[in-house]
Amino acid sequence: MKFFIDTANLADIREAQEMGVLDGVTTNPSLMAKEGITGKDNVMRHYKQICDIVEGDVSAEVISVKYEEMIKEGDELAELDENIVVKIPMTADGVKAIKYFSEKGIRTNCTLIFSAGQALVAAKAGASFVSPFVGRLDDISTDGMALIEQIVTIFTNYGITTEVLAASVRHPMHIIQCAEIGADVMTAPLSVIKALLNHPLTDSGLAKFLADHEKANLPVKQ
Ligand code: E4P
Repeated sequence: MKFFIDTANLADIREAQEMGVLDGVTTNPSLMAKEGITGKDNVMRHYKQICDIVEGDVSAEVISVKYEEMIKEGDELAELDENIVVKIPMTADGVKAIKYFSEKGIRTNCTLIFSAGQALVAAKAGASFVSPFVGRLDDISTDGMALIEQIVTIFTNYGITTEVLAASVRHPMHIIQCAEIGADVMTAPLSVIKALLNHPLTDSGLAKFLADHEKANLPVKQ
């Protein structure tokens, strides 16, 4: 399973890249706004900076909602770097735009997927990735992970090559469950990725190893 980081924060992206676990980045307009990135030039420069850090796919989301504007914006984003994946919302205009980009050989990530039907339509239109939002479904008492399982099953049934990118991942168990189900990609904030490293027995085991080493290496009294 590929690990993407879900942020527009350059320091977090650098840290994940240096950890050696990073396969790509996902951003969205909220994450860009959180970093204070405003205005088209700054947005474009920021995406380029992300592409310079990470060796992998970088999802850059269009702000436009009308087909003509979406394809213009997406074309400009795709020109920035070969690793840019144009992120398109699941709407009728969005699906049409996915078809346009797919025919042009530009990769897309269809975002805001909350049902298997939406995922299937996006895949048929030629999306490279579909992004079902696990955490936001859990938030409304709906099983987000069941949706990942349903989409993986459907895509497997028909040999659909669109990758299932589990988004809105909120905690380490979501990551493990995605891997068990066979999601192609998961995207999570750095804190959630780092939480995978933690185990109290690792901490206490290391403390004991170091204490034993220190005791055995005390200077010998003459
Ligand atoms: C990524 O592609 C999504 O935009 C993101 O994972 C949404 O996460 P959130 O539900 O935590 O905002």
